[in-house]
Amino acid sequence: MIKKTVWLVAFISCLWTAPVWAQEEVVVERETDPLVLEKLEQWQDARFGLLMHWGAYSVEGLCESWPICAEPWITRGMDNYAEYKQWYESLPERFNPVDFDPEKWAALAESAGMRYVVFTTKHHDGFCMFDTELTDYKITNPDYPFGNDPRSNVTAEIFNAFRARDFMVGAYFSKPDWHSKAYWSDYWPTADRNCNYFPTHHPELWQEFKEFTYGQIQELMSGYGPIDILWLDGSWVRPQDEQFNEYKAFGPKNQDLDMDSLAALARSWQPGLIVVDRWVEGRHENYLTPEQKIPAETLDGPWETCMPMAGAWSYYPNDTYKPTRELLRQLTDVVSRGGNYLLNVGVDGQGKFPDDAVSRLEELAEWMEVNESAIHGTRAMAPYAIGKCRLTKGKEGAINAIYVSDEGEESPPSKLTFDNIVLAEGSEVVMLGVEKPLKWKNTDEGVQVSIPRSVRRNLPCKYAWVVQLNAAG
Ligand code: GLC
Repeated sequence: MIKKTVWLVAFISCLWTAPVWAQEEVVVERETDPLVLEKLEQWQDARFGLLMHWGAYSVEGLCESWPICAEPWITRGMDNYAEYKQWYESLPERFNPVDFDPEKWAALAESAGMRYVVFTTKHHDGFCMFDTELTDYKITNPDYPFGNDPRSNVTAEIFNAFRARDFMVGAYFSKPDWHSKAYWSDYWPTADRNCNYFPTHHPELWQEFKEFTYGQIQELMSGYGPIDILWLDGSWVRPQDEQFNEYKAFGPKNQDLDMDSLAALARSWQPGLIVVDRWVEGRHENYLTPEQKIPAETLDGPWETCMPMAGAWSYYPNDTYKPTRELLRQLTDVVSRGGNYLLNVGVDGQGKFPDDAVSRLEELAEWMEVNESAIHGTRAMAPYAIGKCRLTKGKEGAINAIYVSDEGEESPPSKLTFDNIVLAEGSEVVMLGVEKPLKWKNTDEGVQVSIPRSVRRNLPCKYAWVVQLNAAG
């Protein structure tokens, strides 16, 4: 009965704010720290990352955090809100992910071509997946079943396992904390996602919340080895902005965490750290994060599309996973337009990747084994696509044309023409994974590449094929 917390929650939760890239042109202040800029380049080379949503909500296969928010669009599996909240907050008592095996996840992700990881260290519900000293509402609490497990500090375990495979490491951290009494005080009702008091009226309470947040950021930045990305979610926690948020039951609130100081604190431990104060335009949004959206063309500055592999961010039993072909289409759309693709897996309550997630990653691995050079280290090149081919430019200047098939299409056509591209004599055209070079010629329509029947009948991989044009000279 309780499990019925609706899909709609997951779905609508991504609709509540106007996407940054759709807003009017404004001059945005950018980070200038050369160490950050260098790390952003490295991060752009990675191109493909893994996001994981995992928390006590996974025990029941619920939407992450949102069911305890009281906004009118949210439904939950009990009629009584107070009862529900109590029930939700007791989920950690049943959260015992004994199958937790981050080395396995890292190995799988690495072979799927992922090169960075972002993990929900704390979602809006405030349940900490790391060993914070600042609350007992954490997976390492010995009163909870997993608290006595040697691997209970799962954030540390995850970061170590992925770092061991040269992943860049990112901490997702929710600025709002719906468990903190300094954010949702017991004194007032909580009508919406915001803090339930006016920080300007109760500066001491807000100060307490700020100190708590700074403390947790300090813990994460100082105790978990090198961190590359601080991915801050919950964009309504920002200095007062009347235009921004419709979910303000009592009018706008000035939820100012003083991001200059917070970023400086984080970088005092992690020089060059990429800070993503997502959807808060300005210096601390080091890259843009369109959510479940793929912009039609490249964006101004570094960007990343985050996308659930299934329908929801968190683990839902029987969730529908996107077919591998669709994942490849999205990956290549994003990368060809110069973005990074951050693909999310909702981990289950036992600490496992759902079977469908594993099979998708395994299929991606097969594809990557042949084609990774068309993804990693590449950059966008206009016009981004020609026909069904997405284009990327390799470090050495090769042009990769990634032909993504439609459903039911088993092979690429026998001829591909790339208008506006002319190759010099001596250039070589290959299909990745096929030894013998392909025949090509310049025509009035552009360079035309022939894919012989022998290749089309014996393709090196499924779903999408890369024709690589290596210009002579
Ligand atoms: C949305 C959801 C949040 C989720 C995030 C991931 O902001 O509201 O729950 O963690 O997307 O990008």
